[in-house]
Amino acid sequence: MLADLLPAAVATAEALADPPEVVLYPEEERLIRSSVAKRRDEFSTVRWCARRAMAQLGLPPAPVLPGHRGAPRWAPAVVGSLTHCTGFRGAALARDEDYASLGIDAEPNAPLPEGILSSISLPQEEHWVRRLLAERPEVCWDRLLFSMKEAVYKTWFPYVGRELDFGDALITTDPDSGRFRAEILLGSGERMAGDPREFYGRWLARDGLLLSAIALPAMAPAGLRPAHGSAPRGVAATGSALGIR
Ligand SMILES: CC(C)(COP(=O)(O)OP(=O)(O)OC[C@H]1O[C@@H](n2cnc3c(N)ncnc32)[C@H](O)[C@@H]1OP(=O)(O)O)[C@@H](O)C(=O)NCCC(=O)NCCS
Repeated sequence: MLADLLPAAVATAEALADPPEVVLYPEEERLIRSSVAKRRDEFSTVRWCARRAMAQLGLPPAPVLPGHRGAPRWAPAVVGSLTHCTGFRGAALARDEDYASLGIDAEPNAPLPEGILSSISLPQEEHWVRRLLAERPEVCWDRLLFSMKEAVYKTWFPYVGRELDFGDALITTDPDSGRFRAEILLGSGERMAGDPREFYGRWLARDGLLLSAIALPAMAPAGLRPAHGSAPRGVAATGSALGIR
């Protein structure tokens, strides 16, 4: 499913069930030694997916450890994103010469708990969500909006190194095309040079799941890009580069 949402240069791997014998690295094992079974399963299987994606990129297998604020750490010159929910685990990886950042998110195609929509949405977003919920109830648009915002955050944070609130990204989507746009609404006082101003992504609803994915195209020469943290200078809007197939 992820391969349907991301460009060909992005390696993807996913699992709809947990393989019985996933071998973790000792440093990964230490992180989940006292975790409940559900967390052990999602943690292990998503790393199994990540290593399959590494192999597709020609990379040797490696542990996937959390970095700043839980963002996964990758080998030098690699970007990536992980997601897991009931019935789905997925990984997406790419070379940073192709993509500056990736963000993927999976959610069940089920309504958000009562009261959550208002807390994660801007008024314009709540408007289109409620309209589409009435017109096309087969997709839980409230949950899909949440998923798109999680994909935005997972793209934004590893690239920029700063937090982003739910109200800082305005999502619009065409319900027929499976595409969405996120406009980053930071004011001039909060925005830093090089911050992306918008992301373009794709979503799908299939087999009881909602998936959202963003691939932010690399815009700066690799030598000018920091390994992580703050964004490179000179990278402004990314609107002309959709980064989608
Ligand atoms: C971090 C967060 C995005 C994870 O999303 P989620 O839907 O809860 O969980 P998922 O299963 O889809 O993703 C979990 C994976 O996200 C990754 N992740 C965690 N923190 C991350 C971060 N700061 N940046 C990028 N990826 C992160 C990890 O790989 C994690 O898997 P792991 O713990 O097994 O390594 C979410 O918990 C969160 O903090 N959201 C609030 C911020 C936000 O979304 N703002 C909206 C801006 S528009």
